[in-house]
Amino acid sequence: MDSASSSARTVAACVIGGIVLGASVVALHLGAGPAAPSLPPVEALRRRFRRRHRPVRVYMDGCFDMMHYGHCNALRQARALGDELVVGVVSDDEITANKGPPVTPLHERMKMVRAVKWVDDVIPDAPYAITEDFMNKLFNEYNIDYIIHGDDPCLLPDGTDAYALAKKAGRYKQIKRTEGVSTTDIVGRMLLCFSHGHGQNIDDSGFGNGTKISHFLPTSRRIVQFSNGRGPGPDSRVVYIDGAFDLFHAGHVEILRLARGLGDFLLVGIHTDQTISSTRGPHRPIMNLHERSLSVLACRYVDEVIIGAPWHISKDMFVTCELGLSLGKLGPLIYIC
Ligand code: CTP
Repeated sequence: MDSASSSARTVAACVIGGIVLGASVVALHLGAGPAAPSLPPVEALRRRFRRRHRPVRVYMDGCFDMMHYGHCNALRQARALGDELVVGVVSDDEITANKGPPVTPLHERMKMVRAVKWVDDVIPDAPYAITEDFMNKLFNEYNIDYIIHGDDPCLLPDGTDAYALAKKAGRYKQIKRTEGVSTTDIVGRMLLCFSHGHGQNIDDSGFGNGTKISHFLPTSRRIVQFSNGRGPGPDSRVVYIDGAFDLFHAGHVEILRLARGLGDFLLVGIHTDQTISSTRGPHRPIMNLHERSLSVLACRYVDEVIIGAPWHISKDMFVTCELGLSLGKLGPLIYIC
């Protein structure tokens, strides 16, 4: 082979190689036609990039009627499965059609869900079952990656699974339901308490009716999971508020919001069951000290709680709680009664 034809072949090979490479790059950018087998399609690349660079958004829905720490624990676990938690609060009509009328109306349930510190966004009037339309809305408008529910079956009146479509789409995840509490259980405690009524003696343990039938077993791990784990800074303006916070409701949330607005750190004292029984009657509280503490701790306005706060507050109490640093001067403390 002479040198002229060899260099012509080299040039031709370069030109053809260049064209093939150029065409592959263009095809890759336009996402048109199958690219070289070793190159993933552009859409897959785009998706991978988006997934890597945008937060994972998860969705949990529910009635959240008479919101309790079991609901809060469900939201906490759901949030841990992603970076952002969007919560759908089911409409009053949908609840009525599927389980009977709710005790608390939508606007109160919305307020309670919004106040939970693991919630990033709330959708009102969510449907009870995940329909095709709603699921597409979640995926396309709200950029939801996964739909989450507790591990208890959620059946519609016709016996079908409310999350069947999400499961079929491979976009369903489950969290562990919290044992020992439910809205029905709380209503039962209330009925029991009212049927026995005022004037009933406190039992030997010194607890009221509601707390006697609580099946909740507090563990230090659960308390830690609900805690912020942060104390006040040296110059923090600490606000203290105490109370029973029994059957934690929208009124409690509102006063905690206002209290937090008065300073930088909100400490909430939760009275003991005995204190509440002796001041409000033997039929109270409905929720025991640890149950009430978890509901308060889950609230986004609360920084710390005293589990079993004394009825009378003293300077010593705050020093014991290691808030002495900021309260050494006792200047920044605001006490709301
Ligand atoms: N949930 C939970 N633990 C509980 C109660 C509820 O993990 N003790 C979860 C449910 O599995 C669901 C979410 O909280 O994912 C919202 O529950 P909701 O729709 O309000 O209704 P229920 O499951 O019926 O709860 P409850 O019986 O307390 O009304």
